[in-house]
Amino acid sequence: MAGDVSGQDPAKADPLVKPKPVLKWAGGKSSLLPEVLARLPRSIDTYYEPFLGGAAVFFALAAERRFERAVLADKNPELINVYSVVQRHVELLIRELSTMQHDERTYYRVREEIPPGKIRRAARTIYLNRTGYNGLYRVNRSGVFNVPFGRYKNPKVCDEARLRAASQALQHAELHVADFEHATLQAGPGDAVYFDPPYAPSSPTANFTSYHREPFGSEEQRRLVGVFKSLSERGAFTLLSNADTAETRALYRGLVMDEVQVRRPINSRASGRGQVGELLVRSAPPRRTKRQPR
Ligand SMILES: C[S@@+](CC[C@H](N)C(=O)[O-])C[C@H]1O[C@@H](n2cnc3c(N)ncnc32)[C@H](O)[C@@H]1O
Repeated sequence: MAGDVSGQDPAKADPLVKPKPVLKWAGGKSSLLPEVLARLPRSIDTYYEPFLGGAAVFFALAAERRFERAVLADKNPELINVYSVVQRHVELLIRELSTMQHDERTYYRVREEIPPGKIRRAARTIYLNRTGYNGLYRVNRSGVFNVPFGRYKNPKVCDEARLRAASQALQHAELHVADFEHATLQAGPGDAVYFDPPYAPSSPTANFTSYHREPFGSEEQRRLVGVFKSLSERGAFTLLSNADTAETRALYRGLVMDEVQVRRPINSRASGRGQVGELLVRSAPPRRTKRQPR
């Protein structure tokens, strides 16, 4: 399919390159990943990941071919635009990224301009993510991206093999800019849902702007418990990771909870980096039940 005008050409992906995240994302799951993967069913009809972020779990499951299809969502439109362009226009995206230079002046110029067109917008997000300070995604109250230049020697702005492998993995995925509740409405028996919500802000005045303009506070955490329970009742296998706090333990009392220690490379909480306790909450042991015909 070389020369496809849409730029869609996932056939170019190298089968030896495993799909991996194309963005660094706060709360990225690298050290918790084995624990999460071990708890998800071996074979899933539809895999739902409604707090997608860097999509570490999705890419790992795709590498192991553990689902038939996936429904992926996040509230952040720039993030979903990146995945949708990687999915459908990976060659045009690679072409765009390979023209972008790494230096401080270019960084601030790219940061100031929001280009027209989804491909250039996706390239901008990837560029800022690869070259900005700590790979943070942070916007101010007016929604303007405000992360300073990062001091990386030689960041890989355009990792062609990784982008193509990600594109291949995304061929069986539906992508939505959506709230987690809406994104999981269709899940049922045979499906699996993994929730990786943002942590609640450490204090009501904390400048918690890492992911999105609106903080994910106690009210949202409680709404998530309701969604978690109703999905489990509908027969979907449901797994959630969250900080190991008294509040989380109280919210999920009565469900299966495992305590795990992880290293967080980017930590939005005041306590900074290092070892933190996490809880993995799940609805029930993985089911083998296949979805019944409706
Ligand atoms: C902890 S991060 C997920 C990290 C991800 N698992 C990874 O591996 O990088 C949380 C994500 O939830 C998204 N988010 C915040 N509130 C949301 C909501 N109400 N519905 C859906 N997504 C939301 C944020 O934009 C952010 O990308």
